[in-house]
Amino acid sequence: MMTAEKKGKVVLAYSGGLDTSVAIPWLHDQGYDVVTLTMNVGQQADNLEEIKSKAYAAGAVKAYVVDLREAFIDTFVWPSLKANAVYQGVYPLNSALSRPMIAQALIWCAEKEGAVAVAHGCTGKGQDQVRIEVCCNALNPDIEVLAPVRDWGFTREEEMDYAEAHNVPVPTTRQSPYSLDDNLWGRSIECGILEDPWNEPPKDAYALTADPKEAPDEEVTVEITFEAGVPVAINGQKMGSIELIDIMNKTAGKAGYGRIDMVEDRLVGFKSREVYECPGALALMEAHKKLETITLSKDTLKTKKELEVRFAEMAYEGYWFSPLMEAVQAFMDSTQKAVNGTVRMKFYKGNGIVNGMKSESSVYNKALATYSAGDIFDQSASVGFIKIWGMPIKTWRQTHSEKNVNPIDAFISAKGKDAF
Ligand code: ARG
Repeated sequence: MMTAEKKGKVVLAYSGGLDTSVAIPWLHDQGYDVVTLTMNVGQQADNLEEIKSKAYAAGAVKAYVVDLREAFIDTFVWPSLKANAVYQGVYPLNSALSRPMIAQALIWCAEKEGAVAVAHGCTGKGQDQVRIEVCCNALNPDIEVLAPVRDWGFTREEEMDYAEAHNVPVPTTRQSPYSLDDNLWGRSIECGILEDPWNEPPKDAYALTADPKEAPDEEVTVEITFEAGVPVAINGQKMGSIELIDIMNKTAGKAGYGRIDMVEDRLVGFKSREVYECPGALALMEAHKKLETITLSKDTLKTKKELEVRFAEMAYEGYWFSPLMEAVQAFMDSTQKAVNGTVRMKFYKGNGIVNGMKSESSVYNKALATYSAGDIFDQSASVGFIKIWGMPIKTWRQTHSEKNVNPIDAFISAKGKDAF
């Protein structure tokens, strides 16, 4: 093969799968020295050491494997939890959140290695390409972003042939019939039979959650303690964030909780049927949302809800590093100072229900709410309150007296004697 002109180093986000493995020799053929970067964001199945040797076998000059789980949680997952971020009201953004993390790590590694470019294995059809590239360009516009899979134009067969000719092992085991992506915040399942929204997702689509019908007959209760909007303990036991999310994934998943089946509006213009399993994410978000109902004011909750939608859209659409995202996160952080306390949540056959909560910073005042002894609510004050609260409507109707036709009259005369 003709050797291309030397271009310098490229840092490739490397999963160890066929596409990114083929990208190593392909980028090399373009004149790059390929440094691979494999990131641990809590994906289930991957053997990271094996991936490293695979990278060297395919021709990488250096192979990094970095454990980014804590950074991922602190920088992306907890901010999203604070914002109860779900795209289109449903999808907790597990895949979307890892993309700015990948971009950040790619740029970090490229700067460290003095690379001229970074590369990812996304196709030209998804939104992961958009997220990674928009984020990389925002973080360091001098570093070029390459997308070999989008550019090479191989058919599946050509890709296999190219792999065989370049010391890249082609998969021998049966490949998943789905396109999968996972990390500690959840698992995304798409393509194949799922592309028809009429098809029920087959059993083999799921890996983290039990079929609710087959979940244990016993309910499980957990108590989750939050500090400033972030979970810090389960059943009174303080623990690190990785372990906490893992326990929530397992507990809720075993009970069949955390499945999502939706048609989602993609940034790239079409609708896509998506299945997700996010037992821990959905459980923590439900608990967090409930805790906010006793710790935040009515006004704050209302405005926060609006900004939560914006937050989720920006995370979905690749605008993580935008100025608006920074401002919205500052708002969220400010609200979360009050979100402290413990939530009790019960899991049972696909359900996860909050059935108790308490908080030192609660603004729920039992003495005001009670209908029993100890009531401090001044009922006599309601008289004046109602007068003033209702005054604008009363005033308007006095001017527009034509409105004062009571529709009951028309209803009753239409029915005639049957009305009585
Ligand atoms: N639709 C989701 C998103 O865009 C999931 C993407 C998952 N990626 C994958 N390669 N399967 O955030």
